[in-house]
Amino acid sequence: MKSQRLPRYDPEQSYQWNYDHAPAVPQITVPEMSRRWHFCGCEVGSPLGISAGPLLNGRWCCYYAQLGFDVLTYKTVRSQQRDCYPLPNLQPVECGQLDGTQSRVSPSTSMQGSWAVAFGMPSAAPDIWRRDIEWTRQQLPQNKVLSVSIVGTMQKGWGITELAADYAQCARWAIESGADCVETNFSCPNVTTCDGQLYLDLRASALVSEAVKSSIGRTPLIIKVGHFVDQQVIPQFLSAVDGNADAVSMTNSIASRVGETDNELMFESQQRGICGRAIFDASLEQVRAFALAIEERQSRIEVIGLGGIETAKDVTRYLNAGASICHLATHPMVDPTCGIEIREHLSQHSMR
Ligand SMILES: Cc1cc2nc3c(=O)[nH]c(=O)nc-3n(C[C@H](O)[C@H](O)[C@H](O)COP(=O)(O)O)c2cc1C
Repeated sequence: MKSQRLPRYDPEQSYQWNYDHAPAVPQITVPEMSRRWHFCGCEVGSPLGISAGPLLNGRWCCYYAQLGFDVLTYKTVRSQQRDCYPLPNLQPVECGQLDGTQSRVSPSTSMQGSWAVAFGMPSAAPDIWRRDIEWTRQQLPQNKVLSVSIVGTMQKGWGITELAADYAQCARWAIESGADCVETNFSCPNVTTCDGQLYLDLRASALVSEAVKSSIGRTPLIIKVGHFVDQQVIPQFLSAVDGNADAVSMTNSIASRVGETDNELMFESQQRGICGRAIFDASLEQVRAFALAIEERQSRIEVIGLGGIETAKDVTRYLNAGASICHLATHPMVDPTCGIEIREHLSQHSMR
């Protein structure tokens, strides 16, 4: 499998170019797993999914579905069209494991497993993504789960109630178009308005999750969160969203500035979300902390493990820490066939 080079997202090209150049669906045999997994009431063929980001549209969803991923998250969409930030959108970085205390990481000339992600959550106009989600659900096999990531778009003069209604509108549209579940992004370190780090505001998290849940009814609601530097807040966060959230997905990224020195910072000295290998340890630790807090409050909320996953061993560590399933973003972009290798390994070793 390693020898097979498949087309992939090109970080040198613009977001729009990659949107328009989704690879053709490959003819590849994917190993069947010896058992089934369950996630938010759905039976899935493996514990593998792609998180919000790499799947820019339906054709990207179909591509990764064919490469062994069973939960496909359609990239975060909005209630209005939004352009992408200028290049670079993906800046490789050189750093060890991050824990949220690093104020700066160094850029790297080559990809070593981690990068700063700087897209600013662009979105196609709603009539385009709604049609595309409908098409995507028709194309995907029935046993694949289509999750749609949405985010509210703050407008001048709005407060949290209006923002919550905007989230709810996007969620309703996603469900009407055929999404099997909705993921609300409560964390985007590249966005500097209050909609960027909603998960750190308990009242806002409660309000938005309630508005979304009441607009989508029984359809599963996933809340995507960022890194909690203070893990003491986790029980309070759960208390704020329990009853509305069916699952929480973590970790979005860990924010840091990027530059060789404090005087030569990229991205106009703003923080960007670091994704990939560098966030593995902190994300795993956070999954463990959430699983414990969920058990303590006897909640039914499930956890999606996400952050730095590259191998079957990584997946197993997340599952053992309490995740129901795992999502990946960076590694399948670098190596599109990694899902097949992980499946092969998991079935040979009949891990959970
Ligand atoms: C290219 C790219 C685009 C992303 N875009 C989004 C996005 O639109 N919405 C979102 O919630 N997360 C987004 N993310 C974050 C990922 O979903 C994921 O949380 C993060 O990359 C950590 O997983 P990883 O270490 O496997 O990359 C993006 C990540 C990447 C690499």
